[in-house]
Amino acid sequence: MASLSSTLNLKPKLSFKNSISELPQSFKVDHVIFVNKASASFKLAASLSSDEPDLTVSVNGLKMPNPFVIGSGPPGTNYTVMKRAFDEGWGAVIAKTVSLDAAKVINVTPRYARLRVAGTNGSARGQIIGWQNIELISDRPLETMLKEFKQLKEEYPDRILIASIMEEYNKDAWEELIGRVEETGVDAMEINFSCPHGMPERKMGAAVGQDCDLLGEVCGWINGVATVPVWAKMTPNITDITQPSRVALASGCEGVAAINTIMSVMGINLDTLHPEPCVEGYSTPGGYSAKAVHPIALGKVMNIAKMMHSEFANMDRSLSAIGGVETGADAAEFILLGADTVQVCTGVMMHGYGLVKQLCSELKDFMRKHNFSTIEDFRGVSLQYFTTHTDLVRRQQEAIRQRKAIKKGLQSDKDWTGDGFVKESESMVSN
Ligand SMILES: Cc1cc2nc3c(=O)[nH]c(=O)nc-3n(C[C@H](O)[C@H](O)[C@H](O)COP(=O)(O)O)c2cc1C
Repeated sequence: MASLSSTLNLKPKLSFKNSISELPQSFKVDHVIFVNKASASFKLAASLSSDEPDLTVSVNGLKMPNPFVIGSGPPGTNYTVMKRAFDEGWGAVIAKTVSLDAAKVINVTPRYARLRVAGTNGSARGQIIGWQNIELISDRPLETMLKEFKQLKEEYPDRILIASIMEEYNKDAWEELIGRVEETGVDAMEINFSCPHGMPERKMGAAVGQDCDLLGEVCGWINGVATVPVWAKMTPNITDITQPSRVALASGCEGVAAINTIMSVMGINLDTLHPEPCVEGYSTPGGYSAKAVHPIALGKVMNIAKMMHSEFANMDRSLSAIGGVETGADAAEFILLGADTVQVCTGVMMHGYGLVKQLCSELKDFMRKHNFSTIEDFRGVSLQYFTTHTDLVRRQQEAIRQRKAIKKGLQSDKDWTGDGFVKESESMVSN
């Protein structure tokens, strides 16, 4: 099949700098050799260079001081908190999702429930690893939110403010919303095609993101009128996230953002037998976020990045990764898979706006360790190490042939023993 990029007239972007074909010849080697050789030379180079790693990014023409973006949700609900995000140094802010008629949005409380690992001494109050919400989009009047966008852009003209928008399946409504939002001076728009809960009967959020025909049509309406960059925020609650991502990009969206929350039921209270979060004795499935979703988000982002790399290469298309980021290392993983920016939502709810300073410092530590000067130096570099299971088998057989002398792992399932079982398991773990 011809690549979409060659059959459609799309704006050029998405250069996965340092993709395998662009890496210096010395890097086009086996993974193990890459790590060993590179770290040795990096150490030498790092000791020679005292330059601070540069975290600035330029995405769809938007210049940010760092790749860390407030993800749409409570951390971008009003003027006060968005101002706080800019003051603390976030690279960009995506506001809480707005629609034309906030009167239709009625939230309940409590609307969050958390999952913890067991604490020390078996206490139930260990680290929070999962967070479920049944929160809807913004329940504040659109007029109020627009006024605040305008004020923020007046006060922070050089900072990137992105509106998140969602509407019913109605062309006029989308056009009106886009026109009114753009008048405030926002730098870009993220389209919420992904909220997993609430209002599917109005064909909003994930109801559109899960239906490629609807999605293509709505993206066509949006890109027919939008004059600022448009990012389509995708739902993970679908078998193959690359399909709607491809449709959104082919319909003119400048970028894709993933993932929104994962459909979940947080748990059942075993004393009361009622589900959580419990509202008047009842609950409804919600969206799961935080650390526990990070591996799932990495998987979805990897799939989207691969698709973009093969079908939208060298076009002005971007990827914003979201899901369970709390450390610079979490962010580095997303960037290594090809993300241009990294969004954080629940992490801010748990650790506050000052988290960005830790994220920047940890990301710089990672860059120093590998002697990366800029984000582009390592963006997408790890994508090349994903392949099919069949190819893993072929590579392993080849490696075994070459390393016959070194015994590592079991050669066959018949070799497992009872006594050495744990050690034998460990011998086949990679981390
Ligand atoms: C309480 C809460 C409210 C959210 N509201 C929105 C929203 O209005 N629009 C949206 O696009 N995503 C919303 N999200 C999803 C987040 O932006 C993000 O995609 C998801 O939570 C995964 O990232 P995280 O683990 O960093 O939170 C919300 C998430 C949470 C936890």
